[in-house]
Amino acid sequence: MPRRKLVAGNWKMHGSLAANAALLNAVSAAASAGCDSAVCVPYPYLAQTQAALFGKAVAWGAQNLSQHAQGAFTGEVNAAMLVEFGCKYVIVGHSERRALYGESSELVAHKYEVAQQAGLVPILCLGETLEQREAGQTGAVVTEQLDAVLNRCGVASLDKAVIAYEPVWAIGTGRTATPEQAQETHALIRAHIAKLDAGVADRVQILYGGSVKANNAAELFAQTDIDGGLIGGASLVADDFSAIMRAGAAV
Ligand code: 13P
Repeated sequence: MPRRKLVAGNWKMHGSLAANAALLNAVSAAASAGCDSAVCVPYPYLAQTQAALFGKAVAWGAQNLSQHAQGAFTGEVNAAMLVEFGCKYVIVGHSERRALYGESSELVAHKYEVAQQAGLVPILCLGETLEQREAGQTGAVVTEQLDAVLNRCGVASLDKAVIAYEPVWAIGTGRTATPEQAQETHALIRAHIAKLDAGVADRVQILYGGSVKANNAAELFAQTDIDGGLIGGASLVADDFSAIMRAGAAV
């Protein structure tokens, strides 16, 4: 069975009540049965997003969660809270969190585990820096990041997860990986999983992220192992995100 495409927006730390209202309206109008879609919004906007998208074809989620169940963790948000606000997805291990907040692959795997235990679908981000790519370490870096999850949760857990390959050098830079570069790493990730379970490898959605725009989405999504995108900047522009959703439905 062919894998469905998923186009997910990562709003990062952007938005306002007024701007979100218009954006959520446009996104829900652009949704179609031909492509899964979602928006991952800042925590304070989850209630607004839930109200706007409830019963619509677009799912929603958060961009991070605590590895802890509850307790004295000032400023943190747990998985159960995300479930209360109807989240389907939660991003874990985004490169910004790895780089700026010191999240290790072990911590990311812990967050992935607690997300799944709560019934959330983790979107597990993997990706190398430019320095690592130029040193020929892309494969080693993404497999180390993935292995932390495989060792902790097992390969079968990927049936309830999404992977996003996001080369760090392509994020927010306008420098997209070429479809061939992205496909090469997606195939490598899928082959790594297939060594453990060919069926899981065949089923898991692997998204590409990093300067996906309306004018390059179709070409990226046409690659054999690219099952959609995790979209940053372009997910904040209704027309652009809608066009990317249409590109996901068209292939
Ligand atoms: P941009 O699409 O802005 O490059 O961001 C990609 C990203 O980090 C999505 O998680």
